[in-house]
Amino acid sequence: MTTGAVITILHASDVHFGEPYDPTVGESFQDMARTIPADLIAVSGDFTQRAKVHEYEAARAWLDRLPRVPLVVTPGNHDVPVYRVFERIFAPYRNYRAYISDELDTVTRIPGLVVVALNSSAPLRHIVQGRIQRKQLEFAARVFQESDPADTRILVAHHHFVTAPDYEGDRAMPGAREVLDVLKRLGVEMILGGHLHRAYIGNSLDVYPGKDREHGIVIVQSGTTSSRRGRARERAKNSFNVIRIAADHLEITHFMYFSDLGRFAPFSMHAYPRRDSQWFPRDPFQNAMLLRHVEPERAEPSSRGAAG
Ligand SMILES: [Fe+2]
Ligand SMILES: [Fe+2]
Repeated sequence: MTTGAVITILHASDVHFGEPYDPTVGESFQDMARTIPADLIAVSGDFTQRAKVHEYEAARAWLDRLPRVPLVVTPGNHDVPVYRVFERIFAPYRNYRAYISDELDTVTRIPGLVVVALNSSAPLRHIVQGRIQRKQLEFAARVFQESDPADTRILVAHHHFVTAPDYEGDRAMPGAREVLDVLKRLGVEMILGGHLHRAYIGNSLDVYPGKDREHGIVIVQSGTTSSRRGRARERAKNSFNVIRIAADHLEITHFMYFSDLGRFAPFSMHAYPRRDSQWFPRDPFQNAMLLRHVEPERAEPSSRGAAG
């Protein structure tokens, strides 16, 4: 980052317009989007349930009501017609291009940040698990190599690179580990995705240390933000993430929808040191006790010598 300014990203996914869409929750997300001042909004795929025109029309109208900040989108497996085989083979992205984005692999830049979105939907052969092709990685490499080294690098793709702990037997995108190795070399700090319909915030080192055990990639999966298709721990639940990129740490807040509250509320918070620091130079949660050995000037005199 070139400045000390914090960048805020609102990350939603799997809104699934069509039969599974829950308008109460979808509107609640719109309320949150108006409340949380974001510099960029990312919606990581599965805008529709069956890639039908009326579903895309509703998704477009919903996107158009979000705050006017740069919007990053990427197609999901439900954004291509699974059952309309002729269309899936010859024009899989016709409706997606018409209503969501004409481009499938994109780059979005704001001061201090570069976001590459790669289309991981593979309508011909890997419809459910997805795939990222070599030429897409070459596109990402060109973009990142031409970027200011100080800019934070983020990748967005619909399908997951790592599985969540309660997805026993589930497999990540084929070739995900090789892609993670490439993205690490390109200096990518964070991957945003969806598809699991369950939020998962972690680090690639937890599941795949790879060749470089010093630099993991922070994995930020959003659950389904507005559909009735939540799975595993988020069964019948909805979620989205707020990501804050500060000079010395990344902070991810996982919001869930609570029916008794009638709105989304923070459910868990996660923090990671920036890629080049490996440890926290300051306490990201401003807990004076936590890092008093690192920041002795912050420790309160009365707390010295206290037990524990
Ligand atoms: Fe989905
Ligand atoms: Fe999906």
